[in-house]
Amino acid sequence: MTIRIKSENDIHYASHEAMNFAKDIGMNTLETTKVSIIISELAYNIIKYAESGFVRFSKVSTHKNEGILIEAIDNGPSIKDIEKALKDNYSTGGSLGLGLPGIKRISDLLEINSTPETGTHIKVTYWKK
Ligand SMILES: Nc1ncnc2c1ncn2[C@@H]1O[C@H](COP(=O)(O)OP(=O)(O)OP(=O)(O)O)[C@@H](O)[C@H]1O
Ligand SMILES: [Mg+2]
Repeated sequence: MTIRIKSENDIHYASHEAMNFAKDIGMNTLETTKVSIIISELAYNIIKYAESGFVRFSKVSTHKNEGILIEAIDNGPSIKDIEKALKDNYSTGGSLGLGLPGIKRISDLLEINSTPETGTHIKVTYWKK
């Protein structure tokens, strides 16, 4: 499922849909809450730093487990220093700078591709525990 992110309403909608999706693959309340935090933080960054973009989520599975792949895609100015952006309290927007490091802590895999030419593409994988 792909959702265009342009306003705060879109963030609430995306977060709600992702929680339902996570629930449908058998995640418990703590897990669906984590999924919702991940998608909200990524979507807030899209609005704040790129104005608009997309989030999408899909099911990933192995023979043993299932999980959710959450992606955030925008054509904004890109993340200047990815290493710094993953550190606590680094923010170019004058806020707490805890979004990406928080996602890194609660997810299983965080991959960031970001260049001024291609924009920002973030992939987060979260497995059912
Ligand atoms: N989609 C994006 N496009 C461009 N830069 C981004 C994007 N997402 C994050 N960044 C950069 O990475 C930094 C860290 O992001 P992070 O979400 O951790 O913190 P924040 O958004 O500044 O603060 P918080 O999420 O705690 O309110 C941002 O300050 C910004 O410089
Ligand atoms: Mg943020």
